[in-house]
Amino acid sequence: MRHFLSIYDVSPEEAEKVLLRAKAMKDGDIRTTQLSGKTIILIFEKASTRTRVSFEVGIKHLGGSSLLMTPAESQLGRSEPLEDTAKVLSRYVSGLVVRTFGQEIVETLAENATIPVINALTDQYHPCQIMSDVLTMYERTPKLDQVKVAWVGDGNNMAHSFINGATRFPYALSLACPDGYLPDQEVLDRALALGAKIDLSDDPVKAVSGAHYVNTDVWASMGQEEEQRERESVFAEYMVDANLMGHAAPGAKFMHCLPAHRGEEVSTEVINGPDSIIFDQAENRLHMQKAIMELILA
Ligand code: CP
Ligand code: NVA
Repeated sequence: MRHFLSIYDVSPEEAEKVLLRAKAMKDGDIRTTQLSGKTIILIFEKASTRTRVSFEVGIKHLGGSSLLMTPAESQLGRSEPLEDTAKVLSRYVSGLVVRTFGQEIVETLAENATIPVINALTDQYHPCQIMSDVLTMYERTPKLDQVKVAWVGDGNNMAHSFINGATRFPYALSLACPDGYLPDQEVLDRALALGAKIDLSDDPVKAVSGAHYVNTDVWASMGQEEEQRERESVFAEYMVDANLMGHAAPGAKFMHCLPAHRGEEVSTEVINGPDSIIFDQAENRLHMQKAIMELILA
């Protein structure tokens, strides 16, 4: 039994295998019966469109069934201990897919469950999203060791995931984050110690220069809504617009995990433009969830 709480839960070889399997799942529109007779619980403590739907549909494509649990409609919202919740749910179902706040929440669930736990986003990481974003890049540029990825904006869960991803896939990552909003030093140090090609500055032009993929994300993530105004002023120089994209490699693609705020972290022109690949990213969530579930749950 194994979990997928961060991309470190898969080896570089497994990560590559999952990537190729997701591509095959997509190309062949593969459906299986590997989850036949199994039920997976989706615990969502935060809103979701893509992650929830792609997991639910993916579970159906693998022959299983799913059940959504939210704090408002379960004892989670009335502070039943996570340890008890994990032990109880383990008696009913075959896996947990969890979207929540602190990474320690998915860790506690995993420590106490006797079934696999998959991280569907925490404040710290979004491992399923980075796996799927790598698929979106790989489809266009299979030689990932020749790819430069730019990250512009908040040093958040997605920035951390791109950093972690650089230990599993050979892309070079250049981040530009404002002072006070940098990725966690220990996340960075761990990846650098493993030889990931990563540099960090506060300069969006430097990060984007020569990049093949330019990524950004919202300035205030879920749970940080009250910081929105303050962050709008801190991040004002970090909008990905046509001018900034002009520093990227010719034909560079714009990426965003979505949902996006047009006119904040990205201009409407760029996100709606011909080099935006946001909907391919969104579609690939489905194919990648199936490949991840095949490894972790089947
Ligand atoms: N990208 C992503 O995780 O989207 P949702 O919040 O809609 O699941
Ligand atoms: N950083 C964003 C990602 C949403 C998919 C958040 O955590 O809200």
